[in-house]
Amino acid sequence: MVRIHPSILSADFVNLERDLERIASADGVHLDVMDAHFVPNLTFGLPMVQRIAEVTSLPIDVHLMIDDPDTWALQYAIDGVDSVTFHAEATRDAVALARELRARGARAAIALKPGTAVDDVLEHLREFDMVLVMTVEPGFGGQSFMSEMMPKLQELRGRADELGIELALQVDGGITADTLPIAAAAGADVFVAGSAVYGHADPAERIHALRLAAAPQPGSLDR
Ligand code: DX5
Ligand code: ZN
Repeated sequence: MVRIHPSILSADFVNLERDLERIASADGVHLDVMDAHFVPNLTFGLPMVQRIAEVTSLPIDVHLMIDDPDTWALQYAIDGVDSVTFHAEATRDAVALARELRARGARAAIALKPGTAVDDVLEHLREFDMVLVMTVEPGFGGQSFMSEMMPKLQELRGRADELGIELALQVDGGITADTLPIAAAAGADVFVAGSAVYGHADPAERIHALRLAAAPQPGSLDR
């Protein structure tokens, strides 16, 4: 099943409740936590995530672009947060952290920057509910989609199918109605979109357009 997760990074932070209501037709909301260390940008942290969890009924997908998630990620496993994603590059013990997140009732997800290979994650795929393959360098919205990341998705989907596990595969960065089908064909099923949703007057219409783009074309394999 295809899931569309708008990122509020491109929303109006002063009118956030209104902008959350505008994406009510989405499957989840993607919250980009940045610490100005792991990435060269600063957004928001736990108090914002807690408050958003109080006002939205959408499942929350927290994307932690922070140093030392081994210490900080667990506190994001609160009511309303469906999944917590930490970066492979920042984590000392990804398997231990994923197990702790699951024990606290959150789905555990690991993210890979464009320069990070899939090999380590492939070895421990059962430990994760979702893998996020970044299709831009993390830090900023509005960048161009990196199609050269598609082999990572194919490898991950192939291994998950071999193992017979249900693995969500998320892509984040440069997702539009044009690039979404490319990632979907490579095995992605959770699509983060910031500027493609909030950069337009009618976010609900953009979500609909992304869903249409994801619909299997005649003659293609139905996933
Ligand atoms: C970038 C963030 C993304 C960002 C995507 O580091 O992780 O979630 O909001 O923005 P777009 O969809 O505009 O590329
Ligand atoms: Zn993100």
